[in-house]
Amino acid sequence: MNRPLSKLRFSSSFPHRSEFGKSSNGLPIRIAVLISGNGSNLQAMIDAIDAGTLPAKVVVVISNKADAYGLDRAKKANIPTEVISHSDYDVLAGFMRILTSTFVEHFKNRILNIHPSLLPKYPGLHTHKQVLAAGDLTHGATVHIVTSELDAGPILGQMQCNVAPNDTAETLKQKVQQLEYQLYPEVIKKWAEK
Ligand code: GRF
Repeated sequence: MNRPLSKLRFSSSFPHRSEFGKSSNGLPIRIAVLISGNGSNLQAMIDAIDAGTLPAKVVVVISNKADAYGLDRAKKANIPTEVISHSDYDVLAGFMRILTSTFVEHFKNRILNIHPSLLPKYPGLHTHKQVLAAGDLTHGATVHIVTSELDAGPILGQMQCNVAPNDTAETLKQKVQQLEYQLYPEVIKKWAEK
């Protein structure tokens, strides 16, 4: 697939890593990735780490679904995995479960999420359908800090693409996911370098 027309915009108020409540003890940063399904964003991180463009290490992949394909991707990359189907339970990659406020408070400012829309537009589900219904000419992906309010934490970076007249929810999903594979590793890299 051709890369859609896009540009990456980091937030002008991109926080310093110390503001994430994490002491910076040198690179690479260690990240836990939470998934629920395909794990293609996880794969993009693994590929960027292997290519040497992302100075990070995925130390564990946690899924709330035992049959998530992302668990196979993790195993292939020799990353330990955990399945936690129900618990009170730092990078979310398609983790379809709202985290408890206790969890979010405990890891305050240290949990990131990627969302398939140009937030603050379209928090929640079915973003591509909503873009089509609204007749928007642009769409995109956002990486933000997780707070207890759904998809509403401070934005760290965004990438956008055009919406063509013949786009469907499925083609928009593919376009946006291509953006995500570039956006998430770059935001994590900037975070790690801060
Ligand atoms: C991504 O499109 C992301 O925006 C959303 O969930 C999807 C996860 O896809 N939060 P994958 O499991 O990384 O392929």
